[in-house]
Amino acid sequence: MSEAIAYERVGDVAVLKAQNPPVNALGIDVRKGLLAGIERAESEGAKAVVIYGEGKTYFAGADIREFGRPPQEPYLPGLCSRIEASPLIVVSAMHGTALGGGLEVALSSHYRIAVPSAKMGLPEVNLGILPGAGGTQRLPRLAGTEAALEMITTGRHFGAAEALDKGIIDRIEEGVPREIGLAYTQELLDAGAPRRAVGEMPAPEAVDFDAVYEATLKKGRGQLSPATAVRAVQAAAEAESFEAGLKRERALFTELMESDQRQGLIHAFFSERAVSKLPELEGIEPREVAAMGVIGGGTMGAGIATAALLVGLSVVLIEMTDEGVAAARGRIQGNLQGALKRGKITQVQYDQLTGEALTVSTDYAALGKVDLVVEAVFEDMGVKREVFGKLDAHCKPGAVLATNTSYLDVDEIAAATSRPQDVIGLHFFSPAHVMKLLEVVVAEKTAPEVLATGFALGKRLKKVAVRSGICDGFIGNRIMNVYRKAAEYVVLDGASPYQVDKAVTTFGFPMGPFAMGDLAGLDINWAARKRRAPTRDPRERVPRFYEMLCEGGDFGQKTGKGFYVYEDGPRGGGVPNPQVAELIAKDQEQQGVAPREFSDAEVLRRYMCAMVNEAAKVVGEGIARRPLDVDMVMLFGYGFPRFWGGPLKWADLQGLDGILADIRAYAVEDDFFWQPAPLLEQLVADGKSFDDLNKGA
Ligand code: 3HC
Ligand code: NAI
Repeated sequence: MSEAIAYERVGDVAVLKAQNPPVNALGIDVRKGLLAGIERAESEGAKAVVIYGEGKTYFAGADIREFGRPPQEPYLPGLCSRIEASPLIVVSAMHGTALGGGLEVALSSHYRIAVPSAKMGLPEVNLGILPGAGGTQRLPRLAGTEAALEMITTGRHFGAAEALDKGIIDRIEEGVPREIGLAYTQELLDAGAPRRAVGEMPAPEAVDFDAVYEATLKKGRGQLSPATAVRAVQAAAEAESFEAGLKRERALFTELMESDQRQGLIHAFFSERAVSKLPELEGIEPREVAAMGVIGGGTMGAGIATAALLVGLSVVLIEMTDEGVAAARGRIQGNLQGALKRGKITQVQYDQLTGEALTVSTDYAALGKVDLVVEAVFEDMGVKREVFGKLDAHCKPGAVLATNTSYLDVDEIAAATSRPQDVIGLHFFSPAHVMKLLEVVVAEKTAPEVLATGFALGKRLKKVAVRSGICDGFIGNRIMNVYRKAAEYVVLDGASPYQVDKAVTTFGFPMGPFAMGDLAGLDINWAARKRRAPTRDPRERVPRFYEMLCEGGDFGQKTGKGFYVYEDGPRGGGVPNPQVAELIAKDQEQQGVAPREFSDAEVLRRYMCAMVNEAAKVVGEGIARRPLDVDMVMLFGYGFPRFWGGPLKWADLQGLDGILADIRAYAVEDDFFWQPAPLLEQLVADGKSFDDLNKGA
């Protein structure tokens, strides 16, 4: 018998136990074992089969690591059909997460039982594919077309109670899977229950599939898998037989399996898990964190405090004045009220989190017991150094002292204390209780266990934590400043800001750079420009239209006008501001630029080439350890479309030689901005990809 599937005989029942840790993925050995188990049960005269998983879960899906390699028999769809066709009664007993191919095995069984905590789902679209082992044909036969469409196109997990309610499972029982499975099977045998194949049930009802397809495509912002899955469910309703439906599902599955988007999404799946695993942290224990301090209760401080409270940390927040204290408390209460309204916390929890778990004070002495402090005061080196001096005086020995600075040098901040080994950057993104990214910035003297504590905190806050070295803007903001500049250059040269925003959103970003500027407040970037102006290289081209707009008092959404006009308030979305074209024309005239036409494709190409080139510099300089670190920063902090995997995965898929050739061509017009990254040149010369670096090749 296969090692991945154990065979046991209990009276008339054959018991097949999956033992393929950590998640009982349906790799080749598991598939072989299941097939052999069914055949043996049949040949040995068993009357029924129970399938369950050892450890923390039933099958969590196909083995994703096999994707892109030549498939090996038995294939999962055939195995599912074989299980369904068995003359014995097959029962699946589920616990943990029965996902994707896992749920498809269960749907091919004749009866399904689960423990109350079991979660199920067909999350394949999130990996760029669709359920390819009959899930799109069997689920609608049990749950109905509409419910199945919703579950398959969103890929969401659902609980046992919902599964029972929708007819996807037959029973919920407390207990361990083997025992509840055996008891249920015996009961079925005793009652003379029939073999019950989902594939033999009537086809589900048809709906307006074209309308669902269009709506799903639009919602996916360029992602193809959810919309393609609609066509597979359509086949369940409309194909002439169950087998014909399975065939159609297979064809659509294969189409997606061969797509770039599948590669991008699988890259995102594994990178999301790899990004926080640092070899240097192996065996290093993080420091204990139960009480957290936050300095400054503005936008970021209040968001960070909210995130900490929501995962059970107590928070001491320091503001400058009594008014500041009241405002900070109000912001945190507002955030938590949102969580209360969405049902994430109860009224009792709300009262506890805003009551005993939260202290807001003007007195730094209140920080005496905290284990970790995050400073989020004004972005000013003098102010930050003064605050860190006070933290040094008031915090207990061993407390981790973190700064949320966006751009400032963490080494210089650390030097304001007598304990630079305890200082680190923890760069959250706005709104901090919502955004998933956390850049963990390592300073020169940061101790390994302080770095480990930063990552442990990130995990506790359910963030994607990425290690960054020190540079102006760390990984994300540094890259963003460069691609935003590329966007301004194409506008100065003749494209419109609206064409840029459209090209970028068509690519899959939720927003373009000009709409984003309006949202964040144009004045913030304007201040940074003024700060940098004295040290700017004379060779740098400087578009002026952005500053002209700010000089007129238009800062974006907060003033009702920026690149767009927001007559119906920020939520109504904006319409192009007609004054912007005049300012751009004036800028062109003053700089002697003759505007030309750009195709949408060229606009996007320049934007992306600028992003990839700077990302390659960030990796080449060691600010990011691996290309995948940059990819995860852009995915979780900057809205980069997940189905492309990140800018460097996207670059691999496009071909690095073409990107380098384009950068060189752009350099003919502006060889200061378009300086190719040495790492990009090296990879092209060696015929390698960014992903080779991820794999340590
Ligand atoms: N194949 C291969 N490896 C998998 C895997 C899978 N389906 N699912 C998880 N793993 C690996 C992870 O990469 C991780 O490996 P690591 O320890 O080396 O980093 C390990 O298992 C543990 O995973 P997590 O850290 O994610 O553990 P959690 O307990 O947090 O989550 C989970 C468990 C909910 C099962 C989560 O891993 C998950 O969502 N997995 C993917 C499920 C999925 O998408 N299934 C559908 C697959 S596609 C399919 O079935 C096609 C079919 O229709 C033909
Ligand atoms: P903010 O202006 O909204 O809040 C700053 C708060 O700090 C104010 O409430 C102020 O009263 C308080 N403060 C100032 N000096 C203080 C002191 N000495 N002691 C106690 N409190 C003091 O600013 P915001 O946006 O929250 O930014 C804070 C920090 O976070 C900055 O370093 C910024 O660069 C960084 N950051 C900002 C992001 C954003 O999107 N706003 C994103 C990521 C980081």
